[in-house]
Amino acid sequence: MRRPVIAGNWKMHKFIADSVTTALALKPLVVNANHCEIVIAPVFTAIKSVADRLEGSNIRVAGQDCAPEQKHGAHTGEVAADMLRDAGASYVIVGHSERRQFYGETDSMVNRKVQAALAAELTPIVCVGETLAQRDAGLAERVVKGQIDGGLRDLTVSALERIIIAYEPVWAIGTGRTATPEQAQQMQAFIRRIIAERFGEEASQLLRILYGGSVKPDNIAGLMAQPDIDGALVGGASLEAETFAKIVHYNAA
Ligand code: PGA
Repeated sequence: MRRPVIAGNWKMHKFIADSVTTALALKPLVVNANHCEIVIAPVFTAIKSVADRLEGSNIRVAGQDCAPEQKHGAHTGEVAADMLRDAGASYVIVGHSERRQFYGETDSMVNRKVQAALAAELTPIVCVGETLAQRDAGLAERVVKGQIDGGLRDLTVSALERIIIAYEPVWAIGTGRTATPEQAQQMQAFIRRIIAERFGEEASQLLRILYGGSVKPDNIAGLMAQPDIDGALVGGASLEAETFAKIVHYNAA
């Protein structure tokens, strides 16, 4: 009943030409993939070119971040959510651990970005996840709960319906060390429980929760077999069309 989402986060990779080439290579490889939503997130400068070339296809485009401010103005270097929409994006990743770790993004900034994304009619993909030190200290659930409480503060049930959460344990991102399907499932079931407590059982059952962190063609099926994993946010393995297409086709035997 929850439509899976397979999203590729290209991070700070690819010039415009290469972004378009990859997107066009992906298009025929996933043309028959009706079982899931397919999303790619190029760098800001490539969004418009990629979105134009994908128009009418089953691949949607995401921004990798957006400004917390909704009103246009003196915010040098920022890109407003409605500007992403204007460029052809329909999703935006917010609160990625690299933004939290290296650019000081806080839960309250994440919250403002979620609100900005919703106001611009973008679907926010809200990232949460603990570091290895936090997991080893037994704090993983507490950390993730804090990120969800803070990041989704003041949201209504109807706003929640337009949000996607991505659980990305920081120790699994770009390290080749995936969480086991059981570890991911355990946390994602926990996330769904927190959401149920705050937004009600029905809303929690509709919420898509993705897993991210070293997702590859050979581990996606095991992850997707878990009841609370509704898709994947893929970094490294999304950069090549063939590899990403294999992940999209996780259900092909
Ligand atoms: P990875 O990145 O697949 O390269 O681990 C995932 C992410 O950061 O979203």
